[in-house]
Amino acid sequence: MTELPHRKIRSFVRRPGRVTSAQRRALKDLTPLWCLSIREQIDMSKTFGRNSPRVLDIGFGDGEALVTLAVNNPDVDYLGIEVHEPGIGHLLLLLQRAGIKNVRIIQHDAVEVIEEMLMDHQFDVVNMFFPDPWPKKRHHKRRLIQPLFIHNIGRILRSNGVLHIATDWKDYALHIKNVLSENKKFTEISYNENDSLLQRPPTKFERRGKRLGHITTDLLYRLI
Ligand SMILES: C[S@@+](CC[C@H](N)C(=O)[O-])C[C@H]1O[C@@H](n2cnc3c(N)ncnc32)[C@H](O)[C@@H]1O
Repeated sequence: MTELPHRKIRSFVRRPGRVTSAQRRALKDLTPLWCLSIREQIDMSKTFGRNSPRVLDIGFGDGEALVTLAVNNPDVDYLGIEVHEPGIGHLLLLLQRAGIKNVRIIQHDAVEVIEEMLMDHQFDVVNMFFPDPWPKKRHHKRRLIQPLFIHNIGRILRSNGVLHIATDWKDYALHIKNVLSENKKFTEISYNENDSLLQRPPTKFERRGKRLGHITTDLLYRLI
C-alpha cells in the first residue's frame, strides 16, 4: 500500500468567538453529562449501552442539525465532534432543553479523534456538513478531506457504511470527488433523502451560503 502522508496542519484556526454567559454555564455544568473524555478510546456500545445504528457528525457547528436528527431518530446514536466553543455550548443547551439521550460530544480536533480514539467499524454513517472550504489555494492543505483522512474514515465505518459530505463550494466539491475517486474502498452513490440515516436538515452554514446564492452539492460514498 502507498504511504499516506501524515499531516500537522490544522483544518481550523482557534478564534475566540463570543461565548454567551448561558453557553459558558452550559460548558461548565453540562460537559460532564454529554461530552466524552479525550483520554480514552470510545466504544459506542458501552457509551450508549446499546447496539443501535450510529452516526458521526464531524464539525457540527452550532449543532442545530445534529439535534434535529437526534430528535427525529431516537433509535439512532449520534456522536458529534467540534472544536468551536460557542457551538459546543449552544449544542449543550439544546440537548438539555430537549432532554436528548442519544447524542454525545467530543471537543477536540476530529483528525486526531478519528486517528486515536475511534475504534474500527463503529459507524453506519459519517456526516460532514459544510466542512470549511478553505478557498484560497495556499490554504488548500488545511482542508479536512485528504487521502489519509478518507482512509481513516474507511476504517471507522461499518461495511456498507456511508460518508455523506455537503458543500456549497464548487471547487471543494471537485477536490472531494478527486480524493474519493482515488480511494478504491468507496463508491459514489446517489442521495436518497428518504433514508432516515442519510437525512440532512438545513444547517446554519448552508443558510448563510444560500443568502449569497451558493448551491449545495451532496456527495455520498458507500464503503464497499
Ligand atoms: C463551515 S462550519 C460548518 C458547521 C455546520 N456543519 C454547519 O453546516 O453549519 C465547519 C465547522 O467545522 C469545524 N471544524 C473544522 N475543522 C475541525 C476539526 N479538525 N475538528 C473538529 N471540528 C472542526 C469548525 O469549527 C466549524 O464549526
